[in-house]
Amino acid sequence: ISLTRCNAVSSNSSSTLVPELADIDWDTVGFGLKPADYMYVMKCNIDGEFSKGELQRFGNIEISPSAGVLNYGQGLFEGLKAYRKKDGNNILLFRPEENAKRMRNGAERMCMPAPTVEQFVEAVTETVLANKRWVPPPGKGSLYVRPLLMGTGAVLGLAPAPEYTFIIYVSPVGNYFKEGVAPINLIVENEFHRATPGGTGGVKTIGNYAAVLKAQSIAKAKGYSDVLYLDCIYKRYLEEVSSCNIFIVKDNVISTPEIKGTILPGITRKSMIDVARTQGFQVEERNVTVDELLEADEVFCTGTAVVVSPVGSVTYKGKRVSYGEGTFGTVSKQLYTVLTSLQMGLIEDNMKWTVNL
Ligand code: COI
Repeated sequence: ISLTRCNAVSSNSSSTLVPELADIDWDTVGFGLKPADYMYVMKCNIDGEFSKGELQRFGNIEISPSAGVLNYGQGLFEGLKAYRKKDGNNILLFRPEENAKRMRNGAERMCMPAPTVEQFVEAVTETVLANKRWVPPPGKGSLYVRPLLMGTGAVLGLAPAPEYTFIIYVSPVGNYFKEGVAPINLIVENEFHRATPGGTGGVKTIGNYAAVLKAQSIAKAKGYSDVLYLDCIYKRYLEEVSSCNIFIVKDNVISTPEIKGTILPGITRKSMIDVARTQGFQVEERNVTVDELLEADEVFCTGTAVVVSPVGSVTYKGKRVSYGEGTFGTVSKQLYTVLTSLQMGLIEDNMKWTVNL
């Protein structure tokens, strides 16, 4: 079982030396790094051109202490998942071109060159195939794919870095929250904010995630699963949770905060809206107030890592409101089932969202 290919890697991953599945306990995979075999590395020169990337053994990288990403936070990341289909052999990617486009938008905001959509999707495909034995068996999770784009060229004065590196690494993952698929408990944050109008809240820059660690740590120490942020001007409108987007359901109408520069345009969010509409639900993207949240019938979160997570309770200014009875709400459950069945290849993909590897 410990056989692996070594050194150079061809893009054809079906080497006979690679065992079908990595030798780990697939029943206890959570959301932590389990280093796989290979990572993809592609460099961009001073002219903003990406050379052909290559697969390398997963491992540490060397960059200058003066790299733009280390000094001025010039970095972006993405997240997408690959699922092993029921037949055990085929692998499905979920909307990788959407991640590519989002990285390109973010790169524009952060003054970075970015891989083309084609380069991005090809790199993801190569990386997943090279690490195929790390894609969990059906029903045991997914392979989380983490593309990174960062300014690795040296700077001292504040300026865009002269060189960039695009890396993709992967890890098998299970449930994001320790609650598993059970409802999570959120606290509405009234002091700290995640994003400001005109800032970078709408792109997946690394600094957005460092900015939420403080509130998240305080919340976790008090037993909450995560933090829900409000807008920084009125402190009244829902924005997003540290790691995912938020939806409420009231009288079968589904509402989610609209994308307006301070909220990450989640690919699961967007897919969920389309799934809900095709299932006949009315979906509204608009300003959603914290009062509406407290009066909702159901609340749920969406994200690549999180997938769809029911919210069991929300605490706001010391008042705790509970939803459901420790399980998924009816609407959230229906949408979760359709979306995940699509992602795992259990139903026909009428949306043409999945890419079969
Ligand atoms: C994802 O859902 O892929 C994310 O990037 C969120 C991250 C905090 C795990």
